[in-house]
Amino acid sequence: MDSRERFTIEPGSGQERECPYSPLAIEIRNLHYCQRVQGYSSIDSTNRQARQLSEAGRISPGTLLVADMQTAGRGRGDHAWHSPAGTGIYASLLLPPVVEPARAGLVTLACAIAIFEALKPQLGPAAEHLDIKWPNDLLWKQRKICGILVESVVQDNSLRHLVAGFGINTGQRQFPDLLHQRAVSLVQITGRQHSRHDILLEVLRQFDHVLDRLARKEFQWICNTWENLSSFSRGRKVKFFEAGRPVLGVTSGLRSDGALKVLARTGEERMVYSGEIFEY
Ligand code: BTN
Repeated sequence: MDSRERFTIEPGSGQERECPYSPLAIEIRNLHYCQRVQGYSSIDSTNRQARQLSEAGRISPGTLLVADMQTAGRGRGDHAWHSPAGTGIYASLLLPPVVEPARAGLVTLACAIAIFEALKPQLGPAAEHLDIKWPNDLLWKQRKICGILVESVVQDNSLRHLVAGFGINTGQRQFPDLLHQRAVSLVQITGRQHSRHDILLEVLRQFDHVLDRLARKEFQWICNTWENLSSFSRGRKVKFFEAGRPVLGVTSGLRSDGALKVLARTGEERMVYSGEIFEY
C-alpha cells in the first residue's frame, strides 16, 4: 500500500478527518454519487490516485478522494494545478460510466454546472461575474477559480469508470507570479474566509442533482443549463485548432453531445470536441 494512502474510511468509522475538510460519513449518507471518502493530508494527485486504485480494483464508484494539498496536481493537457495546503479544495470522485462513451463530454459540462451552483451562494452579488469557459473552466472576471479534469478508466477496451477531479481556489491570498493574472480565489473576491468543508459538501449535493439528470438522459437540460451559465456559448469570437490548423469563428451553442458549435469564417459549422478555445 502506498504510504500516502493512510486509510479507507467506511461510514461511521469516525476517521474522516485525515484531510481537515473531509465530509463526515453522516453528512454524505443521503448522497447517491458520493458514498465514502478517503482523506489525505498530502498526496501527489487525487486524480492519479483514483485512477490507479480504480484500475487495481481497490476502490469502487462512489469513492471520493480528497486532499489538503497535492504535490503534483494535474490539469488538462500538460498543465500543473497549483495545490498548496490549507487554501484549496482538491478532490476526485470515482463515478460509474453515467453515459455512453460518445457522450462522455457531457460529464465535464455537468460537473461545471454543479460547481457553478455550489459557488454562487459563497460569492453573493459577486456571482454575477462567474462564468464557464468551454468546456469546464470556471472563471470569475476572466480569472480561473476552478478547474475540472474528467478522466476515463478504460479496461478491456470498455469504459469502466470516470474520475471527476476538481480543484477550487478558496483561500489563496496570492498566487505565484505566473498565475497571478490568471487565477483568483474566493477570499480574494469576497475578502472573507470560506469553509472548504461546506463548499465541498454543497458541490457533492449539486453533483447528485446534475448527474442524476445525466443518468436519466436529460441531455438537452444539461446543454441548455450550461449555455445559460456560460458567456462563451454563443456569439464569442474564438480560435481553436483542428488537426494542428487554426480555425476562426463565432460560437453558436452546444450540440446535444456537449460539442461546441462554431460558425467558422468560411461559413461552415464546425464542432469542437476537445482541447482549448482561445478568444481573439
Ligand atoms: C484544469 O483546469 O486544467 C483542470 C484542473 C484540475 C485540478 C484538480 S485538483 C484535484 C484533481 N487532482 C488533480 O491532479 N487534478 C484535479
